[in-house]
Formats: sequence, C-alpha cells, structure tokens
Amino acid sequence: VGLFGTSRANSLGVDLNDVLALDTLNSQRALWADHLWQAAATLPNAPSDPTAQLRFNPANLTQAVGRVSDATKHQVDAALDLLEKASPMAKADRLQALRITADLFESHYPELFALLAREAGKTLADAVGEVREAIDFLRYYADQAELQTNDAGLGLVVCISPWNFPLAIFVGQVAAALAMGNRVIAKPAEQTPLIAARAVELMYDAGIARDNLVLLPGSGVEIGTRLLSDARIKGVCFTGSTGTAQIIHKNIAAHLDTSTPLVAETGGLNAMIVDSTALPEQAVRDIVASGFQSAGQRCSALRILYIQEDIADKVIPMLAGAMDLLILDDCWQTTTDIGPLIDAAAQNKVQNYIDQQKSAGNLIKQLRAPSGGYFVGPALIRVSGIADLGEEIFGPVVHVARFKAEDYGSIIDAINASGYGLTFCLHSRIEQRIAQTCRSIHVGNTYINRNQIGAVVGSQPFGGEGLSGTGPKAGGPHYLATFAQPSRVFGAQ
Ligand code: SER
Repeated sequence: VGLFGTSRANSLGVDLNDVLALDTLNSQRALWADHLWQAAATLPNAPSDPTAQLRFNPANLTQAVGRVSDATKHQVDAALDLLEKASPMAKADRLQALRITADLFESHYPELFALLAREAGKTLADAVGEVREAIDFLRYYADQAELQTNDAGLGLVVCISPWNFPLAIFVGQVAAALAMGNRVIAKPAEQTPLIAARAVELMYDAGIARDNLVLLPGSGVEIGTRLLSDARIKGVCFTGSTGTAQIIHKNIAAHLDTSTPLVAETGGLNAMIVDSTALPEQAVRDIVASGFQSAGQRCSALRILYIQEDIADKVIPMLAGAMDLLILDDCWQTTTDIGPLIDAAAQNKVQNYIDQQKSAGNLIKQLRAPSGGYFVGPALIRVSGIADLGEEIFGPVVHVARFKAEDYGSIIDAINASGYGLTFCLHSRIEQRIAQTCRSIHVGNTYINRNQIGAVVGSQPFGGEGLSGTGPKAGGPHYLATFAQPSRVFGAQ
C-alpha cells in the first residue's frame, strides 16, 4: 500500500466497488458527453457535432472517456445574448439550488470520482478530496451570501477555471458568482470539459436557471479572448498561470470597463524550511505530500525545500527512501499514490526540465515512471536557493537547498524577493522563530509543522499575493463581495 492510499475514500462510507463498476459503464457510454453541454445550455445550433473530439484518460491513453465539441463563435455570441437578456434568479431560489447541488454531488459520489480519475488522472484519494471541496464551496458560499446585505450582482461574469481542480475550482468560482446574483459564462480548462459538463448538468437539475449559467468549452485563446473583448462582461474570475492572468488583465484594460473586477489565482514558487529542531520523520512525510501528492499539480505544491545543513545528511536519504514507497499507477488502482500529468505537453515540459538538470549534474533522484500514460517520476533537484528557479515547474519536482543557521534571515528575504507569494511551510520547534517568520514572510497561506497543500474551505481561505494572485481568498469571508456592485443607494426615514 502506498503513502497516500485510499483509506480516505473509505472513510466517506463510499463503497469503492461502486466506483470501479463505472469502469464498464463509462466505456459503454463513451459518447455520453457528446451533446451534454449544448443540450443543457438550450442554445441554438446544438446538434451533436461529428467533429467532436474524443478525450482519453491521461493515465491510460487507449481509454476513451467521452467526447466534447468546442463551442463555436456563434454559440459564444448566442450565450452572451441569452445571459444578457436574462434576469438573475431570486436570492432564495439560487441559494437553495446551490445547496441542492451540494446534495446531488453527494448522491453522485461514485460517478464524480470516476470522472475525475478518468478525465483528469486524479487518484481516488485526490478525487474524494476534490468532490468534498466542491461541496464545501457550494454550502459555504450559499451560507455567506445569506449574510450579505449588498448582493446586487455585477451582471454577466466569466469564470475561467483550471484542469488541476476541474470540479472544485470550477464549482467554487461559479457558485460564488451565482450566489451573488450574477449570470455566469463558465469556460472550463480545455483538458477537462467533461467533468465541468457533468457539474453543470447537476446544477441545472438542482434548479439553477439555464439562462443564468452557460458552459462554453473550448480553447482559452479563442473563446477567452472573444469573451473578454465583449463590453457586456462585468466581472472575470480566473485560476491558472500568472502569464495568462497578465494577458487577461491587458484584455480587460483594452476592451472592458477598467473598473471590471478580476479575481485571479495563479502560480507559486512555494518554499518549505526545515530547521535543525524539526522532527525528521514528520518533515519527510510533509515534504512528500506537499511536493508529490497530485503529481505536484497544485498551485500550492512545494517547489523548493530549504534544509538546515546540520540535519541534511540525515533527512535527504530518509526522504529518498520515503519516495521509494510511492506507487505510480493508473488511478483506477486503489493503492495508487501518484497519477499522471495532465497531458503530453505537461509531461514533455517537466521531463525535459528534469533531463536538463540531470545533464547539469543537479539531479539527486528520480523515480521510474510507468508507461501507457503521461507519467513523470517524482524528482529531487539540487539548487543553492530560490533564485536558481525559473518559472514554476508544474509537476512532481522538489528542489532542495541546504542552508547554514546564520543564513535563515536571508532565505526569508530571498523567498519574499521571488515576487510570488502563495504557500510557505516551516518545520521548526523554535517558537520565537515561528512567530517572527509568520510576520515577515509574504505569502497568502503559511503552514507550520504540517504539509502545505489542501486548504480547507471556510477555515483556511486560500489565495496568494504578488505574482500569485489578486485576492480575495477563495473559501474566505471576503470572496463574495467582489461579485457584487458597491452599495450606491442610501436613504433615511
Ligand atoms: N486549494 C488547493 C490547495 O490548497 C489549491 O491548489 O492545495
């Protein structure tokens, strides 16, 4: 049994046999998503498209998951017209529909786990966490919206979501915008439209009006650019790379009202410091989870580990040994710890980077990767500090730097100087150091003596600063206010 395993799946009371049974079901229904989003969106020109692309499981490239056709220009325009004319649902109705959606997600666990494993290459343990997070967003934002007195929506909001949390972040964005009375165009990541389509179908079943929410799958460049040059768009919510967020910002400035709010959650060069007072076994467990769970495809994931010289020769071999226990395999195996990367482009980019580092003599270790999918073996790479890192490498790669006790302060300065500020983790037993570091580190989410992934909706609002995002933090009490107009009518009796 691997390190991350699926015991968490069982703790939900879900019979994994239900999930496994969907293996057969899914191949019989390989076409099920063909027409799904179009029919659901009640748009004109919605017949099933013979050019619809078959999607394959990134862990098993011979297995088709479903088909999807990109929205045409005509459909993008039709969606804008439809939503522009529509009225927002009444507050009580939309919040009830979001809560019913949460209930429906719970009653569709096996199907949602299966889709996440099949389309996004999620391990079953990660899939469980993700469906739970989506449900938490639905209920949390419904509850938060209840408390808002100012909930006049902005109007038409575009939500552009990533493939690494194709259900949780997709649903979080859409639920927040809908909760505040907006009409929403959702543009899912090109790699994961099927899970988004299923989520939208369940939202319609729960009572979200079809003219308040439309899904437009397709290319970010084509559909995103078209949407962001239409002056009817009054708000934008984006999670993805820092580079794309910068392009979106420029598009808003060029084509939309400059007051159009943009909520962007982007990347990070996330650091962990392990000092000589840390508990080595605990640190190793948290390094492995932070760097390699979800194959490192989390914006929160550990990218650079600073380890104090005095314990480095003990902890690094221990870490290498723990890595040997990781099981890389098809996500359909309940024992799998690490699945594939999302697509061939990601696999090539990450493996090429590791190969370059190997040629430069910096590779400490890389696990072998299975064939048949877009797998990359987790790797450790030697560096002298965060300044050696270029752009974010979105995969299972942890850079390792050693530091001397007297250099602690300059490491904090270097991390702050990177410009990114998403997650940070400190393993230390020195209380004064912990308190001082929490004050001086510039990141959105700081974690002490634990791992640095998996922020919990409601109790650990998630989001960064600087190049890592605009705020407000997702799953926190300030998030919804961005999706409403500022109060502007005041009176007295
Ligand atoms: N919310 C996620 C996490 O905390 C984002 O990657 O890991």
